[in-house]
This record gives sequence, structure tokens and C-alpha cells, in this order.
Amino acid sequence: MVELYETLIQGLLDRSFVSVDHWLSPDRVVDLRKSLMDRYQADAFHLAGVGNESRHQTKADFRSDRVHWLERAKASEAEKRLYGQIDGFVEYLNRTCYAGIQDSEFHYAVYEPGSFYGKHVDCFRQNNRRRYTMVFYLHEAWQPGDGGELQLYLGDAVIPIQPQPGRVVFFDSGVPHEVLKGHMRRMSLTGWLKTG
Ligand code: OGA
Ligand code: MN
Repeated sequence: MVELYETLIQGLLDRSFVSVDHWLSPDRVVDLRKSLMDRYQADAFHLAGVGNESRHQTKADFRSDRVHWLERAKASEAEKRLYGQIDGFVEYLNRTCYAGIQDSEFHYAVYEPGSFYGKHVDCFRQNNRRRYTMVFYLHEAWQPGDGGELQLYLGDAVIPIQPQPGRVVFFDSGVPHEVLKGHMRRMSLTGWLKTG
């Protein structure tokens, strides 16, 4: 575990982002996808909102994913296991880097084919508490050409990241990024680690 945590922390410190493929085993991905689909089929998702800082006029022009905010008190077994893993990482991050993470929030997101999320940052201007973003990809399979890449903008560099199932991407919430249009249903769990 410590090795995984160190990989994440080094990536964040060196490049402001890091992508890791083995945090979630294939079984865990299946279990989380089931939890997501249960909630999706129960109609518990809604069109995502856009942060206050957005200069775009309409939501649908800017982002067309559907989300479901998780509540810890109502977590499924698979979600509880993920919370356990994330809490372990946060404890390590706070202890070794004095990161001061005191809070977190999570949502599932489903991007139906053709959905996207325009270029944005995750920390709202009025509320700068979001420090790190993490995204876990939960769909069954993803091939080059399916689209739906997460694209990060780091200085002059444009870094596309394929949303491979099982992959988790961590980045500073202030890094501009977008989700490109895809041809497949794209499923994810996104979390934010927040300072107090
Ligand atoms: C977000 C976001 C990226 C992704 O939910 O704010 O940018 O790859 N998600 O799903
Ligand atoms: Mn984002």
C-alpha cells in the first residue's frame, strides 16, 4: 500500500497528476459498476450542474454527463471498501505531507455516447477547498478510438488520458481539464479531497 501511496504522491508533486492502473482489481471494478448501475436504473442520476465560476450560458452546452452524489451513510459494500481505501490514502497523505485534507465528496458520472464536459477547473472561485481530484473508470472495456479521453492542460502541454477501466487518475483540482466526446457509455466515480 505504502508503495502505491508514494507513487500517487510523487506524481502529484512532480507533475500535478498521476495515473495508476492497479488500485482497483477487476473484481472491485465489477462490484462498483454494479453499485453504479443499481442507482442509475433506479433513476437516481440527474444532469450535472456547472460550477459558479462558469462563464458559459447553458449547462447542456458545457457538460452533458449525469451524476449521482454518494452519501456515506447509504454506501453499498463495494462503496464502503472504496471509502476504506481512500481514507487510508488520505491518512497517509496528511501524516507524511501535512496535506490538511479534512473532507471529501464523491459522485458517480455516466456519459452516454456523445456526452462531454468542456474545459474547466474543479475548484470553484467562491469555494477553494477542493485540493485533489480523483477519477476511477468503471465501464467494462475501452479501446483507442472510443473517445471520451480525459484531457489535462498543464502549461503548454495537452495530455490525453484514456479512461481505461480500473484506472484511477489523481490531479490537482486547479489543473484545467476536459472530457472529450465518446462513442460508448462512459462510467466513472469522481472524488474530491478537500481542505478544512
Ligand atoms: C469532473 C471531471 C473527469 C473524468 O467530474 O469534474 O472532470 O475523466 N471528470 O471523468
Ligand atoms: Mn473536473
